[in-house]
Amino acid sequence: MRSLTALFENNRAWAAGRLRHDPEFFSRLLSQQRVAHLWIGCSDSRVPANEIVGMAPGELFVHRNVANLVVQTDLNCLSVLQYAVEVLRVEHVIVCGHYGCGGIQAAYRGERLGLIDNWLRPVRFLREGAAEQLEALPTEAERHDRLCDLNVIEQVANVCRTTILQDAWLRSQPVAVHGLVYELDDGLLRDLGMSVAKANEVAERYARARGRVIGRQAEE
Ligand code: CO
Repeated sequence: MRSLTALFENNRAWAAGRLRHDPEFFSRLLSQQRVAHLWIGCSDSRVPANEIVGMAPGELFVHRNVANLVVQTDLNCLSVLQYAVEVLRVEHVIVCGHYGCGGIQAAYRGERLGLIDNWLRPVRFLREGAAEQLEALPTEAERHDRLCDLNVIEQVANVCRTTILQDAWLRSQPVAVHGLVYELDDGLLRDLGMSVAKANEVAERYARARGRVIGRQAEE
């Protein structure tokens, strides 16, 4: 455990600091968590969910995996989503991608990294589906960024298509799904215009957000 010494030291300092500012901090969190937001983001260490949106422990329910994917057979992600929507009754589900994503880059370039190639296969499909539009962009950096955007939009649609969201909307539960992307360069979030609050909005919002992302080059 010697190698974790620094982590334990940091932890003790953090807990003591929290108590100094707010003596009730931990005792308050012992009761039921009340969160309004579920965050589905990338595992990348440079995109710490709570920190970039200024939320303290107890304020954000989080699921992270490589390339922020929502796969319909992923019991882990679906369980988080179901618990967040049906038990915690969050009002917002956020899918947040980020530029400079190693997972998206590996899928884009067709790199062989091992088992993870299988996980990233949906991104490969996405890339193949948008090949014409992506190839029209002048630099690889832009192609990468657009694929990050398209991936977020796709994952928002995947969240919306789950029985979890469909059932929530059927019983008129107020819950919206949003697509954001984080810029490593400046630490800012961008809204991809893919916010869905009703089952019948999915197709139109999806088509519009995809069109906007693919057409961005022409607009700029
Ligand atoms: Co990433």
